[in-house]
Amino acid sequence: MHRTMRPTRRAASTLGGAPVAGGFGASDAGRSWTQDYTLTVDPRTTVLDCLLLIKRTQDPTLAFRYSCGHGMCGSDAVAINGTPSLLCKTTVQQAAQTAKPATPSFRRTAGAQTAAAAVPTATSVGTSTTATTPASSADTPVIDLAPIAAFSVQRDLIADIDPMLDQIRALQPYLQARGDLAMTADGKVNVFEYLQSPEQLAKFEQLTTCIACGVCEASCPVFVGGDAFVGPAALVNQIRFIDDSRDGAASERLAAISESDGLPACQSVRACGLNCPQGIDVGEVIWQFIQGVQTRKQEG
Ligand code: SF4
Ligand code: FES
Repeated sequence: MHRTMRPTRRAASTLGGAPVAGGFGASDAGRSWTQDYTLTVDPRTTVLDCLLLIKRTQDPTLAFRYSCGHGMCGSDAVAINGTPSLLCKTTVQQAAQTAKPATPSFRRTAGAQTAAAAVPTATSVGTSTTATTPASSADTPVIDLAPIAAFSVQRDLIADIDPMLDQIRALQPYLQARGDLAMTADGKVNVFEYLQSPEQLAKFEQLTTCIACGVCEASCPVFVGGDAFVGPAALVNQIRFIDDSRDGAASERLAAISESDGLPACQSVRACGLNCPQGIDVGEVIWQFIQGVQTRKQEG
């Protein structure tokens, strides 16, 4: 099985200039083009490991962001074949399922030349990978990588997700404890913990797994479209605290996300939950929350 990776490369437009020696020249600022790389890898290799291999062996200037390497930090969201995904959680095999066949010739994209190169390919046999000659380069799937939508591009595959983090930060994403003192079973004050029943925990527990990767934001047509909308990640974060029985700021939080750029801006498209790496059904969470708020209002 052979794989070709074709990251979309974009020079820094917001930061300007040349970030690293050997990479972009100042005159390249704002220029974007598509560049092909060809790799021979085991299909179980993650796309992140492919990029690290490219960086080590083919192109040290290629820029992408990652940290933990195993789905914990949320720093490596990119569009893989157009779908926002984490580089470290997507294998070549998975990415190939949505890949297009390679075009067996040179192709040009805006302002730049790209090549579907002569491919040193491989055949994957079980768990091993052995070099062979390709039957045809048309058999080689092309995995298309690009920065996630909705955010400005810093360079190559690095989107600037600071606006999302600023939104979340502005809504005070930390527990504001009620101040009630928890009691131990024998009636003594226990100041070290706030007790919570399993049912209370279950109400918000999954939302605590959000890693602020931005995949939901990049999947949301309202957010990507640039409408005034705090975005699904910020809403999920606030719902997590509103549903936490230990938090005492629920009414302030609800008021904040009930502004016109909050819950009212959500059009319930539900694309936001399709690709969440944490399995959070973001659209359903938001929908259920809105329903709950309306029901409570009606009940007075
Ligand atoms: S809800 Fe899911 S997709 Fe959205 S930021 Fe959190 S982990 Fe990422
Ligand atoms: S590198 Fe941390 S989530 Fe992928």
